[in-house]
Amino acid sequence: MKTIIKKGHILNPSTKMDKVADILIVDGIIEKIEDEINDADIDQVIMAEGRYVMPGFIDLHVHFREPGFEYKETIETGSRSAARGGYTSVCPMPNTNPVIDSKEMIEWLSKKEKEESLVHILPVGAITKGQNGTDLADIKGMAQAGAKAISEDGKSVMDVNVYVEGMKQAKESNLVVLAHCEDKNLVRGGVMNAGKKSQELGLKGITNAVEDVITARDIFLANETGAKLHLCHCSTKDSVALIELAKKAGYQVSGEVCPHHFTLCDEDIPCDDSNYKMNPPLRSKEDVLALKNGLKSGIMDVISTDHAPHGAEEKSKSMVDSPFGIVGLETAFCLTVTELVEQGYLTKMELVEKMSYNPSRIIGIDKGQIVEGKVADLVIADFEEEYLIDVNTFASKGKNTPFHGKKVKGRIYQTIVAGKVVYDYDKEQ
Ligand code: DOR
Ligand code: ZN
Ligand code: ZN
Repeated sequence: MKTIIKKGHILNPSTKMDKVADILIVDGIIEKIEDEINDADIDQVIMAEGRYVMPGFIDLHVHFREPGFEYKETIETGSRSAARGGYTSVCPMPNTNPVIDSKEMIEWLSKKEKEESLVHILPVGAITKGQNGTDLADIKGMAQAGAKAISEDGKSVMDVNVYVEGMKQAKESNLVVLAHCEDKNLVRGGVMNAGKKSQELGLKGITNAVEDVITARDIFLANETGAKLHLCHCSTKDSVALIELAKKAGYQVSGEVCPHHFTLCDEDIPCDDSNYKMNPPLRSKEDVLALKNGLKSGIMDVISTDHAPHGAEEKSKSMVDSPFGIVGLETAFCLTVTELVEQGYLTKMELVEKMSYNPSRIIGIDKGQIVEGKVADLVIADFEEEYLIDVNTFASKGKNTPFHGKKVKGRIYQTIVAGKVVYDYDKEQ
């Protein structure tokens, strides 16, 4: 099978390639990148004139809800949502039912990937059995079965001795620890950011300290154990400051920011609407600015989605009674273009770094690059096209987003996984 992508503007951070060229893909591998490729026996030509060709996006943080919550999302629908968002690899979090906490569950996930997923799945195992916080999961076994990371996402491992042992085993197995930072004892029933707005709405608040104390704890524990630490969905200015401090000290730490946290602040919450409820919550203006500047300066390495689909009924309840989380796979690119590229925080190349190249390095896979000889995981997009976000077009089962109707720039046209077009905007029309 031979495919040519013609006249696309290639953005590849690893070689700093930033020019219009053709790409020849043979049996799923990037065979040739040249200014002009003219080959006679081509099976498929993709015209990309006026568009950008980037390494497929890699999301270190999604929730696909299978097994156990298939009404919210499945691996199949989640993977279609990922493809529609320009993603070619994703890390589904293990807070399913049962929890992904064993060698067998990792093997089950890999089997589901082969049978049902349009994109690559990078398995993540839980740190403790059933996420019970006390009994360590079989981390080595999960690593042998193909896990790329461990995470207790949805919560933090509050018992430091259990956590330290988990970190040691992660290091021995060469797994990265994806940390959700939330001190359970400080939450006190909070459902949104603590501040003027939460008081106005009469809702209990979540302070920055809920995140910051665990961010600090995790950084020091990772340094002591030698574990590679990646901090999930950072939302506060002091998370950014702590990561900066840790990096200056030479610690192995990286941080991610989600599009909702750099697009909205708590003051943008119009009323008690659970489409604005996620954990960590939308923070203050000051925090949002620190996140944007953290991405700009390079302190923050990754943009991930924390794609968290929920059922329409459960999300129609009040902020108090609905679950935390919003969908993100199909709005991440356009929000990043609109809020960061258009506003001068990131160049287009830096967007690719944060959405593809850096995630691939952190999780330890040979992806995130457009280089001859590598697997052809690619995304083709337009940075200029303007439109309104419409939840009705989402492939995800989850329609829970505060961004319905928002005017954005940036359209995904094709997503290509191992040479195969898994999403084509033109065919959707
Ligand atoms: O908003 C969130 N949703 N935050 C989490 O930590 C968990 C996630 C979920 O699983 O829905
Ligand atoms: Zn989380
Ligand atoms: Zn999450």
